[in-house]
Amino acid sequence: MSKKIAVLPGDGIGPEIVAEAVKVLVWLRDAQGLDLEMSEALVGGAAIDATGGPLPESTLKLALEADAVLLGAVGGPKWEPLPHAIRPERGLLGLRKELDLFANLRPASVYPQLVDASPLKPELVSGIDILVVRELTGDIYFGQPRGVETLPDGSRRGYNTMVYSEAEIERIAHVAFKAAQGRQGRLCSVDKANVLETTELWREVLTRIGQQEYPEVELSHMYVDNAAMQLIRNPRQFDVIVTGNIFGDILSDEASQLTGSIGMLASASLGTKYGMYEPIHGSAPDIAGQGIANPIATILSVAMMLRYSLNEPVWADRIEAAVSRVLDQGLRTADIHAPGTRRVGTHEMGDAVLAALQAGQ
Ligand code: NAD
Ligand code: IPM
Ligand code: MN
Repeated sequence: MSKKIAVLPGDGIGPEIVAEAVKVLVWLRDAQGLDLEMSEALVGGAAIDATGGPLPESTLKLALEADAVLLGAVGGPKWEPLPHAIRPERGLLGLRKELDLFANLRPASVYPQLVDASPLKPELVSGIDILVVRELTGDIYFGQPRGVETLPDGSRRGYNTMVYSEAEIERIAHVAFKAAQGRQGRLCSVDKANVLETTELWREVLTRIGQQEYPEVELSHMYVDNAAMQLIRNPRQFDVIVTGNIFGDILSDEASQLTGSIGMLASASLGTKYGMYEPIHGSAPDIAGQGIANPIATILSVAMMLRYSLNEPVWADRIEAAVSRVLDQGLRTADIHAPGTRRVGTHEMGDAVLAALQAGQ
Protein backbone atom coordinates (compact mmCIF):
# COMPACT_ATOMS: atom_id res chain seq x y z
CA MET A 1 0.00 0.00 0.00
CA SER A 2 1.31 3.43 -0.85
CA LYS A 3 2.58 5.69 1.90
CA LYS A 4 0.88 9.07 1.94
CA ILE A 5 2.97 12.15 2.59
CA ALA A 6 1.29 15.49 3.30
CA VAL A 7 3.54 18.26 2.03
CA LEU A 8 2.96 21.64 3.69
CA PRO A 9 5.45 24.22 2.35
CA GLY A 10 4.13 27.19 4.35
CA ASP A 11 5.66 30.65 4.11
CA GLY A 12 8.83 32.57 3.35
CA ILE A 13 11.63 30.19 2.41
CA GLY A 14 9.29 27.25 3.21
CA PRO A 15 8.27 26.58 -0.42
CA GLU A 16 11.88 27.02 -1.65
CA ILE A 17 13.42 24.48 0.71
CA VAL A 18 10.52 22.04 0.59
CA ALA A 19 10.80 21.91 -3.21
CA GLU A 20 14.36 20.60 -2.86
CA ALA A 21 13.35 17.97 -0.32
CA VAL A 22 10.42 16.88 -2.47
CA LYS A 23 12.85 16.29 -5.37
CA VAL A 24 14.44 13.57 -3.27
CA LEU A 25 11.07 11.99 -2.50
CA VAL A 26 10.03 12.14 -6.15
CA TRP A 27 13.25 10.43 -7.20
CA LEU A 28 12.77 7.72 -4.56
CA ARG A 29 9.28 7.19 -5.94
CA ASP A 30 10.04 7.32 -9.67
CA ALA A 31 13.51 5.78 -9.85
CA GLN A 32 13.66 3.55 -6.79
CA GLY A 33 10.12 2.27 -6.67
CA LEU A 34 9.17 3.54 -3.23
CA ASP A 35 5.40 3.59 -3.15
CA LEU A 36 4.96 7.21 -2.07
CA GLU A 37 2.04 9.52 -2.68
CA MET A 38 2.66 13.23 -2.09
CA SER A 39 -0.15 15.76 -1.68
CA GLU A 40 0.41 19.43 -1.03
CA ALA A 41 -1.70 21.69 1.18
CA LEU A 42 -1.68 25.17 2.66
CA VAL A 43 -0.64 26.05 6.18
CA GLY A 44 0.33 29.23 7.99
CA GLY A 45 0.23 32.61 6.31
CA ALA A 46 -0.34 31.07 2.88
CA ALA A 47 -3.47 29.42 4.28
CA ILE A 48 -4.61 32.63 5.95
CA ASP A 49 -4.34 34.47 2.64
CA ALA A 50 -6.31 31.79 0.80
CA THR A 51 -8.88 30.74 3.40
CA GLY A 52 -8.80 33.16 6.33
CA GLY A 53 -7.29 30.69 8.81
CA PRO A 54 -3.80 29.17 9.37
CA LEU A 55 -4.94 25.53 9.50
CA PRO A 56 -7.81 24.82 7.08
CA GLU A 57 -9.95 21.75 7.76
CA SER A 58 -8.77 20.22 4.50
CA THR A 59 -5.12 20.55 5.54
CA LEU A 60 -5.74 19.01 8.93
CA LYS A 61 -7.67 16.17 7.29
CA LEU A 62 -4.81 15.53 4.85
CA ALA A 63 -2.34 15.42 7.75
CA LEU A 64 -4.54 13.09 9.79
CA GLU A 65 -4.85 10.72 6.84
CA ALA A 66 -1.15 10.81 5.97
CA ASP A 67 1.63 8.44 7.04
CA ALA A 68 3.92 11.43 7.48
CA VAL A 69 3.87 15.21 7.17
CA LEU A 70 6.66 17.31 5.69
CA LEU A 71 6.48 20.95 6.74
CA GLY A 72 8.59 23.91 5.60
CA ALA A 73 8.05 26.86 7.88
CA VAL A 74 5.30 29.32 8.76
CA GLY A 75 5.06 32.99 9.63
CA GLY A 76 6.35 36.33 8.51
CA PRO A 77 6.00 40.07 9.02
CA LYS A 78 2.93 40.26 6.81
CA TRP A 79 0.82 38.40 9.37
CA GLU A 80 2.30 39.85 12.55
CA PRO A 81 -0.51 42.40 13.01
CA LEU A 82 -3.10 39.59 13.23
CA PRO A 83 -4.50 38.50 16.60
CA HIS A 84 -2.51 35.62 18.10
CA ALA A 85 -5.33 33.12 17.79
CA ILE A 86 -5.27 33.26 13.99
CA ARG A 87 -1.60 33.83 13.27
CA PRO A 88 0.44 31.50 11.01
CA GLU A 89 2.25 29.99 14.00
CA ARG A 90 -1.08 28.72 15.29
CA GLY A 91 -1.33 26.54 12.21
CA LEU A 92 1.85 24.75 13.19
CA LEU A 93 0.90 24.55 16.86
CA GLY A 94 -2.55 23.26 15.87
CA LEU A 95 -0.98 20.46 13.82
CA ARG A 96 1.31 19.49 16.68
CA LYS A 97 -1.62 19.39 19.09
CA GLU A 98 -4.12 17.67 16.80
CA LEU A 99 -1.62 14.99 15.80
CA ASP A 100 -0.47 14.70 19.43
CA LEU A 101 3.17 15.13 18.43
CA PHE A 102 4.51 15.39 21.94
CA ALA A 103 8.10 14.35 21.25
CA ASN A 104 10.29 16.61 19.15
CA LEU A 105 13.67 15.11 18.27
CA ARG A 106 16.21 17.72 17.24
CA PRO A 107 19.63 16.19 16.54
CA ALA A 108 22.54 18.61 16.52
CA SER A 109 25.68 16.99 15.22
CA VAL A 110 28.46 18.67 13.37
CA TYR A 111 29.60 17.50 9.96
CA PRO A 112 33.42 17.43 10.12
CA GLN A 113 33.48 19.51 6.91
CA LEU A 114 31.67 22.31 8.75
CA VAL A 115 33.62 22.65 11.97
CA ASP A 116 35.00 25.91 10.63
CA ALA A 117 31.52 27.21 9.86
CA SER A 118 30.58 27.37 13.53
CA PRO A 119 31.24 30.67 15.27
CA LEU A 120 32.82 28.58 18.03
CA LYS A 121 36.37 27.27 17.94
CA PRO A 122 36.78 24.07 15.88
CA GLU A 123 38.30 22.17 18.81
CA LEU A 124 35.18 22.96 20.83
CA VAL A 125 32.61 21.77 18.31
CA SER A 126 34.33 18.97 16.44
CA GLY A 127 32.68 15.65 17.16
CA ILE A 128 29.60 17.03 18.89
CA ASP A 129 26.57 14.79 18.61
CA ILE A 130 23.68 16.02 20.71
CA LEU A 131 20.05 15.01 20.60
CA VAL A 132 17.62 17.53 22.03
CA VAL A 133 14.36 15.85 23.03
CA ARG A 134 11.89 18.69 23.31
CA GLU A 135 8.41 18.17 24.73
CA LEU A 136 6.12 19.69 22.12
CA THR A 137 2.48 19.79 23.16
CA GLY A 138 2.55 21.20 26.67
CA ASP A 139 4.18 23.93 28.72
CA ILE A 140 3.63 27.66 28.42
CA TYR A 141 2.81 27.19 24.73
CA PHE A 142 -0.57 25.65 25.49
CA GLY A 143 -1.22 26.39 29.17
CA GLN A 144 -4.39 28.14 30.25
CA PRO A 145 -5.17 30.82 31.23
CA ARG A 146 -3.48 33.00 28.67
CA GLY A 147 -4.15 36.39 27.21
CA VAL A 148 -3.92 40.13 27.63
CA GLU A 149 -6.47 41.85 29.84
CA THR A 150 -7.30 45.40 30.76
CA LEU A 151 -7.32 46.10 34.47
CA PRO A 152 -9.80 48.43 36.22
CA ASP A 153 -7.23 51.23 36.20
CA GLY A 154 -7.07 50.97 32.41
CA SER A 155 -3.58 49.44 32.31
CA ARG A 156 -3.06 46.09 30.60
CA ARG A 157 -1.43 42.89 31.68
CA GLY A 158 -0.39 39.84 29.70
CA TYR A 159 -0.16 36.32 31.07
CA ASN A 160 0.68 32.78 30.01
CA THR A 161 0.73 29.66 32.12
CA MET A 162 3.48 27.08 32.36
CA VAL A 163 1.82 23.77 33.02
CA TYR A 164 2.80 20.10 32.82
CA SER A 165 0.84 17.13 34.03
CA GLU A 166 2.71 14.18 35.49
CA ALA A 167 1.52 12.01 32.58
CA GLU A 168 2.89 14.48 30.03
CA ILE A 169 6.27 14.45 31.75
CA GLU A 170 6.29 10.69 32.02
CA ARG A 171 5.72 10.07 28.32
CA ILE A 172 8.46 12.43 27.16
CA ALA A 173 10.78 11.00 29.82
CA HIS A 174 10.37 7.52 28.33
CA VAL A 175 11.20 8.82 24.85
CA ALA A 176 14.33 10.51 26.16
CA PHE A 177 15.56 7.60 28.27
CA LYS A 178 15.05 5.21 25.35
CA ALA A 179 16.94 7.55 23.04
CA ALA A 180 19.81 7.70 25.55
CA GLN A 181 19.84 3.89 25.77
CA GLY A 182 20.47 3.74 22.02
CA ARG A 183 23.27 6.32 22.19
CA GLN A 184 25.93 7.02 24.81
CA GLY A 185 23.61 6.36 27.73
CA ARG A 186 23.72 9.87 29.15
CA LEU A 187 20.63 12.01 29.66
CA CYS A 188 20.67 15.60 30.89
CA SER A 189 17.29 16.92 31.98
CA VAL A 190 17.08 20.68 31.75
CA ASP A 191 14.68 22.61 33.97
CA LYS A 192 14.32 25.62 36.23
CA ALA A 193 13.43 23.64 39.33
CA ASN A 194 15.03 26.24 41.60
CA VAL A 195 12.26 28.69 40.71
CA LEU A 196 9.36 27.01 38.90
CA GLU A 197 7.17 24.40 40.59
CA THR A 198 6.17 22.94 37.20
CA THR A 199 9.75 22.00 36.54
CA GLU A 200 10.30 20.84 40.10
CA LEU A 201 7.67 18.22 39.29
CA TRP A 202 9.49 17.61 35.99
CA ARG A 203 12.73 16.87 37.86
CA GLU A 204 10.99 14.62 40.36
CA VAL A 205 9.31 12.56 37.63
CA LEU A 206 12.50 12.26 35.56
CA THR A 207 14.39 11.07 38.64
CA ARG A 208 11.75 8.49 39.56
CA ILE A 209 11.44 7.05 36.07
CA GLY A 210 15.21 6.93 35.72
CA GLN A 211 15.68 5.05 38.98
CA GLN A 212 12.79 2.67 38.42
CA GLU A 213 13.10 1.86 34.74
CA TYR A 214 16.39 3.07 33.28
CA PRO A 215 19.02 2.62 36.01
CA GLU A 216 21.73 2.09 33.39
CA VAL A 217 21.17 5.55 31.90
CA GLU A 218 23.26 8.21 33.58
CA LEU A 219 20.76 10.95 34.44
CA SER A 220 21.85 14.45 35.33
CA HIS A 221 19.89 17.64 35.92
CA MET A 222 20.82 21.14 34.91
CA TYR A 223 19.14 24.52 35.28
CA VAL A 224 18.33 26.01 31.92
CA ASP A 225 20.46 29.11 32.38
CA ASN A 226 23.49 26.96 33.14
CA ALA A 227 22.61 24.64 30.23
CA ALA A 228 22.58 27.60 27.83
CA MET A 229 26.06 28.48 29.05
CA GLN A 230 27.40 24.90 29.09
CA LEU A 231 26.27 24.36 25.48
CA ILE A 232 28.76 27.01 24.45
CA ARG A 233 31.45 26.31 27.06
CA ASN A 234 31.70 22.56 26.55
CA PRO A 235 29.07 21.14 24.18
CA ARG A 236 30.70 17.70 24.01
CA GLN A 237 29.56 16.97 27.58
CA PHE A 238 26.02 16.43 26.23
CA ASP A 239 24.55 13.27 24.75
CA VAL A 240 20.75 13.54 25.06
CA ILE A 241 19.09 16.63 26.48
CA VAL A 242 15.44 16.40 27.52
CA THR A 243 13.49 19.51 28.30
CA GLY A 244 10.14 21.24 28.07
CA ASN A 245 8.65 23.04 25.13
CA ILE A 246 9.93 26.58 25.66
CA PHE A 247 13.40 25.70 26.94
CA GLY A 248 13.77 23.17 24.12
CA ASP A 249 12.81 25.76 21.53
CA ILE A 250 15.50 28.12 22.73
CA LEU A 251 18.26 25.59 23.42
CA SER A 252 17.86 23.87 20.04
CA ASP A 253 18.33 27.14 18.17
CA GLU A 254 21.41 27.72 20.30
CA ALA A 255 22.69 24.20 19.60
CA SER A 256 22.31 24.81 15.88
CA GLN A 257 25.19 27.24 15.99
CA LEU A 258 27.50 24.46 17.10
CA THR A 259 26.84 22.76 13.78
CA GLY A 260 27.54 25.79 11.62
CA SER A 261 24.04 26.97 10.77
CA ILE A 262 20.41 26.65 11.71
CA GLY A 263 19.97 25.73 8.06
CA MET A 264 21.47 22.31 8.88
CA LEU A 265 19.14 21.18 11.68
CA ALA A 266 16.33 18.74 10.96
CA SER A 267 13.62 17.53 13.29
CA ALA A 268 11.06 14.82 13.81
CA SER A 269 7.91 15.46 15.81
CA LEU A 270 6.46 12.18 16.95
CA GLY A 271 3.44 10.95 18.84
CA THR A 272 2.05 7.48 19.25
CA LYS A 273 0.48 7.52 15.79
CA TYR A 274 1.79 10.38 13.63
CA GLY A 275 5.06 11.89 12.51
CA MET A 276 5.78 15.37 11.22
CA TYR A 277 9.15 16.41 9.85
CA GLU A 278 10.48 19.93 9.55
CA PRO A 279 13.66 21.95 9.76
CA ILE A 280 13.99 23.63 13.16
CA HIS A 281 14.37 27.06 11.57
CA GLY A 282 11.63 29.45 10.56
CA SER A 283 10.48 31.10 7.37
CA ALA A 284 13.55 33.38 7.25
CA PRO A 285 11.73 36.41 5.80
CA ASP A 286 15.07 38.25 5.50
CA ILE A 287 16.24 35.89 2.73
CA ALA A 288 12.92 34.61 1.33
CA GLY A 289 12.56 34.71 -2.44
CA GLN A 290 16.28 35.09 -3.06
CA GLY A 291 17.05 31.45 -3.77
CA ILE A 292 19.84 31.38 -1.19
CA ALA A 293 18.28 29.47 1.73
CA ASN A 294 19.97 26.27 2.82
CA PRO A 295 17.70 23.30 1.99
CA ILE A 296 19.81 20.74 3.87
CA ALA A 297 17.81 20.88 7.13
CA THR A 298 14.67 20.04 5.17
CA ILE A 299 16.37 17.31 3.14
CA LEU A 300 17.69 15.82 6.39
CA SER A 301 14.14 16.02 7.76
CA VAL A 302 13.10 13.78 4.87
CA ALA A 303 15.83 11.38 6.00
CA MET A 304 14.29 11.38 9.48
CA MET A 305 10.88 10.74 7.91
CA LEU A 306 12.24 7.73 6.04
CA ARG A 307 13.74 6.43 9.28
CA TYR A 308 10.88 7.03 11.72
CA SER A 309 7.68 6.94 9.65
CA LEU A 310 8.35 5.14 6.39
CA ASN A 311 10.46 2.23 7.58
CA GLU A 312 13.23 2.99 5.07
CA PRO A 313 16.27 3.44 7.34
CA VAL A 314 18.71 2.55 4.57
CA TRP A 315 17.50 5.46 2.45
CA ALA A 316 17.75 7.72 5.48
CA ASP A 317 21.41 6.74 5.87
CA ARG A 318 22.04 7.26 2.17
CA ILE A 319 20.56 10.76 2.19
CA GLU A 320 22.73 11.72 5.15
CA ALA A 321 25.76 10.29 3.36
CA ALA A 322 24.84 12.22 0.20
CA VAL A 323 24.76 15.47 2.18
CA SER A 324 28.17 14.64 3.55
CA ARG A 325 29.57 14.00 0.05
CA VAL A 326 28.22 17.33 -1.20
CA LEU A 327 29.97 19.05 1.68
CA ASP A 328 33.13 17.14 0.73
CA GLN A 329 32.79 18.60 -2.77
CA GLY A 330 33.05 22.05 -1.18
CA LEU A 331 29.55 23.22 -2.04
CA ARG A 332 28.09 25.66 0.47
CA THR A 333 25.00 27.83 0.71
CA ALA A 334 25.56 31.38 1.99
CA ASP A 335 24.92 30.50 5.65
CA ILE A 336 27.77 27.96 5.75
CA HIS A 337 30.02 29.56 3.15
CA ALA A 338 33.71 29.93 3.98
CA PRO A 339 36.82 30.88 2.01
CA GLY A 340 37.92 28.06 -0.28
CA THR A 341 34.41 26.66 -0.73
CA ARG A 342 31.98 27.21 -3.59
CA ARG A 343 28.89 29.21 -2.85
CA VAL A 344 25.69 27.80 -4.32
CA GLY A 345 22.00 28.64 -4.14
CA THR A 346 19.07 26.62 -2.86
CA HIS A 347 18.36 24.79 -6.14
CA GLU A 348 21.97 24.00 -6.83
CA MET A 349 22.41 22.56 -3.34
CA GLY A 350 19.25 20.47 -3.73
CA ASP A 351 20.40 19.22 -7.13
CA ALA A 352 23.84 18.38 -5.77
CA VAL A 353 22.43 16.32 -2.89
CA LEU A 354 20.16 14.46 -5.29
CA ALA A 355 23.05 13.84 -7.69
CA ALA A 356 25.19 12.52 -4.84
CA LEU A 357 22.34 10.28 -3.75
CA GLN A 358 21.91 8.98 -7.30
CA ALA A 359 25.63 8.38 -7.64
CA GLY A 360 25.99 6.68 -4.28
CA GLN A 361 22.99 4.41 -4.05
P1 NAD B 1 14.22 32.09 11.39
O1 NAD B 1 14.67 30.75 11.82
O2 NAD B 1 13.20 32.15 10.32
O3 NAD B 1 15.48 32.94 10.93
C1 NAD B 1 16.56 33.26 11.81
C2 NAD B 1 17.81 33.56 11.00
O4 NAD B 1 18.31 32.34 10.44
C3 NAD B 1 17.56 34.50 9.82
O5 NAD B 1 18.64 35.34 9.65
C4 NAD B 1 17.43 33.54 8.64
O6 NAD B 1 17.80 34.10 7.40
C5 NAD B 1 18.38 32.42 9.04
N1 NAD B 1 17.94 31.14 8.47
C6 NAD B 1 16.91 30.38 8.89
N2 NAD B 1 16.77 29.31 8.11
C7 NAD B 1 17.74 29.36 7.18
C8 NAD B 1 18.13 28.52 6.09
N3 NAD B 1 17.48 27.39 5.80
N4 NAD B 1 19.19 28.90 5.34
C9 NAD B 1 19.86 30.02 5.62
N5 NAD B 1 19.55 30.86 6.64
C10 NAD B 1 18.50 30.53 7.42
O7 NAD B 1 13.69 32.83 12.72
P2 NAD B 1 12.96 34.27 12.87
O8 NAD B 1 13.54 35.25 11.94
O9 NAD B 1 12.98 34.54 14.31
O10 NAD B 1 11.45 33.98 12.47
C11 NAD B 1 10.90 34.29 11.19
C12 NAD B 1 9.48 33.75 11.11
O11 NAD B 1 9.51 32.33 11.14
C13 NAD B 1 8.59 34.16 12.27
O12 NAD B 1 7.30 34.43 11.77
C14 NAD B 1 8.58 32.95 13.18
O13 NAD B 1 7.42 32.85 13.96
C15 NAD B 1 8.65 31.86 12.17
N6 NAD B 1 9.21 30.60 12.67
C16 NAD B 1 8.63 29.46 12.20
C17 NAD B 1 9.15 28.23 12.52
C18 NAD B 1 8.50 27.02 11.98
O14 NAD B 1 7.68 27.11 11.11
N7 NAD B 1 8.85 25.84 12.46
C19 NAD B 1 10.30 28.16 13.32
C20 NAD B 1 10.88 29.35 13.79
C21 NAD B 1 10.33 30.57 13.44
C1 IPM C 1 9.91 26.06 16.17
C2 IPM C 1 9.25 27.41 16.10
C3 IPM C 1 7.84 27.32 16.65
C4 IPM C 1 7.95 27.01 18.13
C5 IPM C 1 6.95 28.56 16.42
C6 IPM C 1 6.95 29.03 15.01
C7 IPM C 1 5.55 28.29 16.88
O1 IPM C 1 10.02 28.37 16.75
O2 IPM C 1 9.38 25.11 15.57
O3 IPM C 1 10.95 25.93 16.80
O4 IPM C 1 8.14 27.93 18.94
O5 IPM C 1 7.84 25.85 18.46
MN1 MN D 1 12.00 27.65 17.34
